[in-house]
Amino acid sequence: MNIVTTPRSLQEALTGVGTIGFVPTMGYLHEGHLSLVEAAKSENDLVVMSIFVNPTQFGPNEDLDRYPRDFERDEALAREAGVDVLFYPNTETMYPLDMARVTVRTGADVLCGASRPGHFDGVLTVVSKLFNLVRPTRAYFGLKDAQQVALIEGYVRDYFVPVEIRRCAIIREPSGLAKSSRNVYLSESEKADASDINRALIEARDALAQGEAIRDVMARLEDRLKNIPNSTIDYVEIKDYPTLTEVTSASTELLIAVAVQFERARLIDNVIWKRG
Ligand code: PAJ
Repeated sequence: MNIVTTPRSLQEALTGVGTIGFVPTMGYLHEGHLSLVEAAKSENDLVVMSIFVNPTQFGPNEDLDRYPRDFERDEALAREAGVDVLFYPNTETMYPLDMARVTVRTGADVLCGASRPGHFDGVLTVVSKLFNLVRPTRAYFGLKDAQQVALIEGYVRDYFVPVEIRRCAIIREPSGLAKSSRNVYLSESEKADASDINRALIEARDALAQGEAIRDVMARLEDRLKNIPNSTIDYVEIKDYPTLTEVTSASTELLIAVAVQFERARLIDNVIWKRG
């Protein structure tokens, strides 16, 4: 595995290599990230992973400083998973002038965007920079961050970015808890309690499948989540996917998404229900 930290060494490593599968991450790797590598390996000649904790997607009171980091461990995991090129830049490299940024026009005022203003501008800004540096054939994103995937797909379409976006399934603990770098902030009992989030989402999806009204499904989901001890609900939403607009009779994919705040970690999870 080739570890590179500058655009120039990245470009050298990528000259004449064939198809490139790209997995952008913020590190502290877990099986969710590694599943994206596996998907990328199966479809491309070469796999590039980036590890960069992007400051512009964190709000002033968010966890940028205490976001978990362990490069040595990540390096070993990436190597083992078969990453060919690991891009590990610093902030000066990624934001040389910070003169221009990408802004989201629609879809950032709901779900995570409502409680994290500017977050998705930061995500699209860094993803745009990374796409220009790596020029991937395909890029792999987890549906754990369903809103992120939808906004990246929208950006790629609006800017005619020559990359194929691949949506990848959420990897979970046996308990159902979605894997996340931020799970390290949870105590064992919080982890056990947090596994109720997925159970509640599955119940909600089944209720929708049985034709229950969206309003009732949302109310029950909210009640279920309220019963999780030592946590507060940030949002409970059912949206059309991937437009992130209100569900209509024409909606074919419905995103049921929640965010729950525990003492030290805000967890998000979702399920997508395909109609018909
Ligand atoms: P990060 O949170 O490190 O996630 C990197 C990728 O791993 C994202 O596409 C995310 O959806 C995916 N992922 C995380 N947990 C997953 C799980 N349990 N199952 C499947 N996929 C999972 O998302 C980011 O970083 C950043 O916003 C980034 C896109 C790198 C831009 O900075």
